[in-house]
Amino acid sequence: MQEMHTHEIIPSTGKPSNLSSYEQTYATFRWEDIHAEFSWHTTGKVNMGYEAIDKHTTTHRRDKTALIYADDGGAQTFTFEEMRKFSNRFGNAFRSLGVQKGDRVFFFMPRTPEIYAGVIGALKIGAIVGPLFEAFMEGAVEDRLSDAEASVIVTTNALKSRIPKERLPHLKHIVLIDGEGELEDREASYKALIDAASEELDIEWVDLEHPMILHYTSGSTGKPKGVLHVHGAMLQQYITGHWVLDLREDDVYWCTADPGWVTGTSYGIFAPWLNGATNLIRGGRYSADRWYSTIQDYKVTVWYSAPTAFRMLMSAGDDDAERYDLTSLRHVLSVGEPLNPEVIRWGMKVYKQRIHDTWWMTETGAHMIVNVPSMDIRPGSMGKPIPGTKAAIIDDEGNEVPPYTLGNLALQAGWPSMMRRIWNNPAKYEEYFKLKGWYVSGDSAYMDEDGYFWFQGRVDDVINTSGERVGPFEVESKLVEHPAVAEAGVIGKPDPLRGSIIKAFVSLREDYVETPELLEELKQHVKTGLAAHAAPREIEVIDKLPKTRSGKIMRRVLKAKELGLPLGDLSTIED
Ligand code: WT7
Repeated sequence: MQEMHTHEIIPSTGKPSNLSSYEQTYATFRWEDIHAEFSWHTTGKVNMGYEAIDKHTTTHRRDKTALIYADDGGAQTFTFEEMRKFSNRFGNAFRSLGVQKGDRVFFFMPRTPEIYAGVIGALKIGAIVGPLFEAFMEGAVEDRLSDAEASVIVTTNALKSRIPKERLPHLKHIVLIDGEGELEDREASYKALIDAASEELDIEWVDLEHPMILHYTSGSTGKPKGVLHVHGAMLQQYITGHWVLDLREDDVYWCTADPGWVTGTSYGIFAPWLNGATNLIRGGRYSADRWYSTIQDYKVTVWYSAPTAFRMLMSAGDDDAERYDLTSLRHVLSVGEPLNPEVIRWGMKVYKQRIHDTWWMTETGAHMIVNVPSMDIRPGSMGKPIPGTKAAIIDDEGNEVPPYTLGNLALQAGWPSMMRRIWNNPAKYEEYFKLKGWYVSGDSAYMDEDGYFWFQGRVDDVINTSGERVGPFEVESKLVEHPAVAEAGVIGKPDPLRGSIIKAFVSLREDYVETPELLEELKQHVKTGLAAHAAPREIEVIDKLPKTRSGKIMRRVLKAKELGLPLGDLSTIED
């Protein structure tokens, strides 16, 4: 262990903020302190849909803008009262299809106002929401719908061909947002359903432990797992919206994440609305000009994005930023991958803002380790655990280790937004808690002498490409479905822009030879079968993949070879 450590420090601006003393709040805060903020306190029941939208319509926020939906064509806005009625109609429409408490209702559609009203509407009737990223292709869609036994999916005409309904016997209804004209088997027209639905709805009041949302995410082995969160996650989503997003009454808040991923629900829907904030959603594609003009035109004050996006904006150049008026920005945050100190320094120069890193995962449901405005930032560190939680670095036996020792980043189980189940897979769930009951994140990190946490990498083979989590097994399985591929091993290869890119090593079946066309075909095969972001950017053909004697592909060896590093312990290798 080193004796002296010097840290670059970007001090707090000292401006007033919602969490004015981290240390004091950390020492005294108890989750019970905020129970009274929710209807649960008086009635014993809650509903996220009510707490996020309806509650505000009984206050001064009734006619406040809840949603600004902006795209290349302009903007649509909805007040809290309009969102209440819009989501009520959706809830009634689902009920008219026979959806009951606990049924799984999936959304597979672009970012439009309907998905926001639809998610709230489904929650109001006690259904479990399953969001799917719009870029998923048939294989990814089928895995998720079939594991969840989804009964309803809301989608569009353009996307419905990726839903293999003949193999999804539980799927009773496919609601088409733009479904006018001819409808096929099991299809329903959104417009007809909504037109017939009342604006008033009897909310299904549920317990804090009632399932709310199912996010599929990747591990290093097996198919994607369904991470289940409950309505009680609202406690933490609410308070982190207050402390970490630092939301205030007049804010225009923009989270750039898609609701197909957890950031786009926990912080693109729940946290801002639980805090009664004006939530801006940007549809359409990324470009530096589109993004900067969004901040300028809608006077965005709080902006939550990701390192890959900041790196892309950085590579677009300072002049690009300087052509826009970004002075509305008050608070900028980042999540999903390590935030490079270089990006923070650049943000100080160009945005005149500190970029506040936040660390959490699909499984945690909300922020766990953060930088809040009143804290000094140590560039390269993810910050400190939020009040009400405990994080630690533990060794492989589950014992806490001293500062600066690399180990497993772990959390004391029991925070409100913690996942409650892996759908259909209790054994997978238990695996997270094997080390003396700690929740083990799969990330390696160390803590410094002042309790700041420093991310070092993943312990397992999970790949983080542009902030999106990709399981190597899924990509390998897709590759070996192709007739040319005998075996495949997939790794993350470091990349300055994307964090990592996906690189595949494949061995070919007899009768196939390597050609540029074949490699391109394999990329396309993953792109069209799984998702564009899961497709390998590089493919290398090798004769034989390194494997253990039990036949497991040794991705670690492929990675070491790729990076020119020592191959490590090869005692379990085949030959
Ligand atoms: C993994 C979780 C819920 C956030 C979006 C991603 C990595 C997340 C950071 C950060 C370094 C980070 C970790 C984590 N990650 N935030 N601030 N610094 N790495 O959620 O898809 O469940 O991925 O993303 O490796 O385990 P996810």
